[in-house]
Amino acid sequence: MDVYKVDGGRRLSGEVSVQGAKNAILPILAACILSEKPVELTNCPDISDVDNMLSILDCIGCRTQKFEDRVIVDASDANCCEIPQELSKRLRSSFFVLGPMIARFGKASCWHPGGCEIGNRPIDLHINGLKRINVDIAEGFGQIKCRGDNLIGADVHLDYPSVGATENIMMAAVRAEGVTVIYNAAREPEIVDLQRFLNEIGFHVAGAGSSMIAIKGGGVTHETTHRIIPDRIVTGTLLCAGVMCGGDIIVKEVEENDVSAIVSKLSETGCSITSDHNSIRLRANRRPGEIRLIETSPYPGFPTDMQSLMFSTCSVADGTSVIVENVFDSRFKHVAEMAKMGAIYTIKDRIAVIRGVPKLTGAEVCAKELRGGAALTIAAIAAEGESTIHGVEYIDRGYDKLECMLRSFGASIRRETV
Ligand code: EPZ
Repeated sequence: MDVYKVDGGRRLSGEVSVQGAKNAILPILAACILSEKPVELTNCPDISDVDNMLSILDCIGCRTQKFEDRVIVDASDANCCEIPQELSKRLRSSFFVLGPMIARFGKASCWHPGGCEIGNRPIDLHINGLKRINVDIAEGFGQIKCRGDNLIGADVHLDYPSVGATENIMMAAVRAEGVTVIYNAAREPEIVDLQRFLNEIGFHVAGAGSSMIAIKGGGVTHETTHRIIPDRIVTGTLLCAGVMCGGDIIVKEVEENDVSAIVSKLSETGCSITSDHNSIRLRANRRPGEIRLIETSPYPGFPTDMQSLMFSTCSVADGTSVIVENVFDSRFKHVAEMAKMGAIYTIKDRIAVIRGVPKLTGAEVCAKELRGGAALTIAAIAAEGESTIHGVEYIDRGYDKLECMLRSFGASIRRETV
């Protein structure tokens, strides 16, 4: 297993280009199943969740190739519609192949998905939405078996704007007779990227980015090359590192509109954030000022995936901050490790009250999930003294060599195998 060895306390400077978005490429890889022609994806991050999704595509008969930041998927001979439990359990987005498999093969079966331990992660919105377009679903012993060889377009009202449910239904509905309209759809930028991809390969989807998405069934698929959008959470992670450590950093190849809520919240610390075309410059010359309240909510609200990174940032701010986690019911799991670094906080259910300290101190800590692991890492590079971070495999799920990005800013961080 790998660990990070960090010698913290250095100011940051320099520039880093942001990787492609994990939460865009994962549903788009699932959507490749819909295409009878080869497709090429560019700006792909080299992360383990992508490798796991490629294993799933291989398992159903796709031919996949990966070269640096390019992935080629040829699903022309895909023929299997069953995902084994071992693969389903590896990641949440294994469940996103259900919709495209039903649309392509008329049937599909998989298992309750795995994914980061951040609280209850039901699939009822996926199931109810697929049933609305005439999918028969049988669940038992952890397995989900679907039959949908006569998909019929319908109005689908989501009780909650679930990202995954929106994406699953979009991908199934491209082969439904007539028009499907998803109401109360999730509005994340990654869904806009999925819509762009679906239309590029020959389908007809409109409205992504709004809470109402229309999918007109039918279309002949053709080859395409699709560039994955920048990762807004990695962008936010690097900006938080700049705020915590102080310095002058530039994050390049970003999509400024996708990070406006994050930039707005970080500006409350008193740092200077400016943007120029597709790069963001952050200058922080003193201890971050207080951020009084952060409430996570679906896009365009403050993203839940940035919550633990903001927890780290608030832990060294000059004041007291309140964080309310409205999306997941157990997303403070990493904070006990923050306490080892000197963070002072109180947690009650979905609320954290954090009293900032002037400096954290290095410690030996363990990551237990993706974003909490990244939060511990930026806390360590800001802290005084040495830290060891175990559980780097969780960070590798979503960050394409986080240690290299931070080293490019001048942080003292290296990966070791223990
Ligand atoms: C996606 O997960 C992301 N993952 C998550 O990113 C992200 O945190 C989340 O959206 C919210 O933005 C990918 O895109 C691969 P949801 P997803 O369905 O689709 C409830 C990361 O760190 N819900 O929008 O699983 C659920 O319990 C990961 O990159 C139901 O009740 O999220 C939660 O409270 C973590 N029933 C809320 O909706 C359902 O059927 C949001 O979940 C589905 C979800």
